[in-house]
Amino acid sequence: MAKNILITGGAGFIGSHVVRLFVNQYPDYRIINLDSLTYAGNLENIKDLENAANYSFVKCDIRDTAALEAIFLKENITDIIHLAAESHVDRSISGPMDFITTNIVGTANLLDLARTHWKNKEEHVFYHISTDEVYGSLGAEGFFTETTAYDPKSPYSASKASSDHLVNAYAHTYGIPVKMSNCSNNYGSHQFPEKLIPLMINNIRHNKPLPVYGTGENVRDWLWVEDHAKAIDVIFHKGKVGETYNIGGWNEWTNIDLVKLLCQIMDTKLEREKGTSEQLITYVTDRAGHDMRYAIDASKIKTNLGWEPSIQFEEGLEKTVSWYLANEKWIDAITSGSYKDYYLQHYSEE
Ligand code: NAD
Ligand code: DAU
Repeated sequence: MAKNILITGGAGFIGSHVVRLFVNQYPDYRIINLDSLTYAGNLENIKDLENAANYSFVKCDIRDTAALEAIFLKENITDIIHLAAESHVDRSISGPMDFITTNIVGTANLLDLARTHWKNKEEHVFYHISTDEVYGSLGAEGFFTETTAYDPKSPYSASKASSDHLVNAYAHTYGIPVKMSNCSNNYGSHQFPEKLIPLMINNIRHNKPLPVYGTGENVRDWLWVEDHAKAIDVIFHKGKVGETYNIGGWNEWTNIDLVKLLCQIMDTKLEREKGTSEQLITYVTDRAGHDMRYAIDASKIKTNLGWEPSIQFEEGLEKTVSWYLANEKWIDAITSGSYKDYYLQHYSEE
């Protein structure tokens, strides 16, 4: 059966990498990129695909059931890779309702279309992209595995956990063929500069304070976004229906060590004296309910599907810095547009 794959959230950070991989790698698939273009969605992220024969973009909000159904039927959607979400933890703390409507209700809308319209269910795949934050927070030891109990702590992670439960419930109750993955922190090109790495790169560039939350000792497990996209490809094609896969980088960093490494890379790239950027580090009030440590055990996806991260963190970070420096227009447009007020309020002393 010909594949007409609906990828949601394809104008965002990870979604744009996934759309690019699928459009380029699978010319026989029709890729329909559906995105409502919130502050985080940007058509510039996928401008290179505009004229690809197997690609189309449609602006739609996954909370708009009627519009969603019309697209689903018109495009004869056979498979869904669902990334659209409100994704930033800090925003979920200051305004949780969009997280609840988009992440929970929006996911339910997509599941319900699959329930209603996919007759021979085994011919289809509903692939839900989730996060390691659903597992809560780790202490100094241990890793999240696929069987770790859910214990979400922020409105963002609780909304993602709710959507994961709905996905599993639809699979169990209606036989929707679902796949799911829970990934650690991604980094790379086209990430919105509210997230730690692009925010710090941009502030270093402008000699602005580098706001490190709390003591800076919180730990995250970082993964190159293109490796995440490859993992999604592998799971979509070879993953077992009904299974969940954890995806991670085996790459834990405290925030403060990561920010210092970024400062070193930036000093070299900007030809500043060693140690210049580090002077911008400013400890600020901690995030409310800040999860201490995330770390993924990514053994299952390696053993069962042969996927593992392809590049070392230092190399990936260097490439990432180079991309932001070579694409100053991209980041300047974002930080001077509608995002500017939020940015100035949260991250700048201007
Ligand atoms: P992002 O914020 O960069 O992009 C989200 C995209 O979804 C945007 O293009 C936005 O316009 C779109 N969107 C938001 N609400 C929508 C709605 N109601 N209808 C249609 N489109 C809507 O997010 P990201 O970092 O690329 O994350 C993508 C997915 O991956 C999310 O589901 C997120 O939970 C998950 N995830 C992210 C990370 C990470 O490190 N960024 C890690 C693990 C999992
Ligand atoms: O683990 C996966 C998750 O990673 C994804 O599900 C989320 O969508 C994604 O946003 C990310 O969540 P985090 O909260 O871990 O990412 P963020 O970049 O916001 O923050 C990373 C760490 O850096 C976190 O411990 C908070 C800290 N931080 C963040 C910002 C923006 C700072 O110290 N200062 C900052 O200015």
